[in-house]
Amino acid sequence: MLKIADVHANYGTASILRGVDLDVASGEVVGLLGRNGMGKTTLVRTCAGLAPPRLVQGEITFDGQPIHGLPSYQIGAQGIGLVPQGRHVFGSLTVLENLQVAARAAKDGDDGWTLDRVYGLFPRLKDRFNSRARNLSGGEQQMLAIGRALMTNPKMLLMDEPSEGLAPIVLGVIRQQLQELKTQGLSILLVEQSLGMAERLCDRLYILGEGGVIVWEGVPADLNADERAKRVHLGV
Ligand SMILES: Nc1ncnc2c1ncn2[C@@H]1O[C@H](COP(=O)(O)OP(=O)(O)O)[C@@H](O)[C@H]1O
Ligand SMILES: [Mg+2]
Repeated sequence: MLKIADVHANYGTASILRGVDLDVASGEVVGLLGRNGMGKTTLVRTCAGLAPPRLVQGEITFDGQPIHGLPSYQIGAQGIGLVPQGRHVFGSLTVLENLQVAARAAKDGDDGWTLDRVYGLFPRLKDRFNSRARNLSGGEQQMLAIGRALMTNPKMLLMDEPSEGLAPIVLGVIRQQLQELKTQGLSILLVEQSLGMAERLCDRLYILGEGGVIVWEGVPADLNADERAKRVHLGV
């Protein structure tokens, strides 16, 4: 579904990604791990068509169509939803307004995401529909960021560190909600710094490491057993 081939990306003259290969099949949940500063967000932004960074080499295809070089709204319209690092909900808008501004109709024949369906997945958002987003807890804001992306009716979600800064109890709730999205067949590229959440949710994992390349790939059980890879590439 998403195919990233030999992607190189820069900020100005600083080269961050130096030949990344990664793919996500339809219905698959794939984890992208790596220590802080390795370029995970840079890769997510490159896929979503956000600048900076600048793609200097390589190809990204989605459903067989090249998407590199397209503006972000066109990439969104093709069915890639972004849950950015740090959530970036619209603080002065209410929960309901945040969801409404993102809404995009499903393609003909698709089972679309509606307000009711988002509230079904995140009952907490329904309780707080009239609160301004800036007054939500971190966990609620994360649910809103995910809900907002779902309202665009994506075929795939790019999620950049959804667990960042959340208390363990909230993490458990979000993990269950992501598990439910997976069960419903949504494809997800899940970025995380550490194994925790990714290990339980993901079908396959990649680690982005020194040099701006993928340094490890495989299934979660293999990474869990690979003490060296965990120590060297994740610092655990
Ligand atoms: N807007 C930017 N301009 C210049 N350098 C950046 C910018 N954003 C990130 N970087 C640098 O690019 C590298 C990768 O950052 P990032 O993709 O955010 O890493 P990660 O998400 O893995 O923590 C880091 O060295 C970071 O300092
Ligand atoms: Mg990041």
